[in-house]
Amino acid sequence: MPAIRSALLAAALLAGTAAADAPRSDAVIGYRQSIFKLILWNYQPMGEMVRGKRAFDAQDFRKRAVRIAFLSQQLGEAFPEGSNSGAMTDALPEIWKQPQDFRAKLGDFQREAKALREAAKTGDQVKVKERFAKTSATCKACHEKYRAE
Ligand code: HEC
Repeated sequence: MPAIRSALLAAALLAGTAAADAPRSDAVIGYRQSIFKLILWNYQPMGEMVRGKRAFDAQDFRKRAVRIAFLSQQLGEAFPEGSNSGAMTDALPEIWKQPQDFRAKLGDFQREAKALREAAKTGDQVKVKERFAKTSATCKACHEKYRAE
């Protein structure tokens, strides 16, 4: 039955392709944790400037705000189904049980990060501080629900 055999072969090849296309979950976990590390690298000095622990440098703040807005977009592909195991992760299974709410929280962060970037471009410290607090609230809202402590 060569027809059946070739159909089976085609199916096996397709399955193989699908498996090869799906990213390995340990790679995905590394990817998202790296993004968060990059976010923190930039966000921490911004927080110190906002709290007056280091001199406010409008140009440096702006450079970091641009990075945060860019990095926030990279998180869109960092939480595929099934990427809650395969490596050490603090991502809670609730992410994939309530994907709409999780996506909404990610969207809030991405929107606030953009607004922070725009405020940073004006160099207006009062505005920048307001937006920074709003952005921080979106980090917190997501961590409270979706990240293990
Ligand atoms: C939409 C949800 C969400 C938002 C918004 C969010 N985080 Fe996270 N964050 C997570 C999750 C989930 C993890 C755990 C990832 C893992 O371990 O796989 C995490 C992990 C982290 C880590 C630890 C990374 C590591 O493994 O070393 C840092 C640092 C971090 N986030 C900082 C931030 C900051 C700062 C913000 C805001 C500027 C932010 N996050 C916004 C969900 C979010």
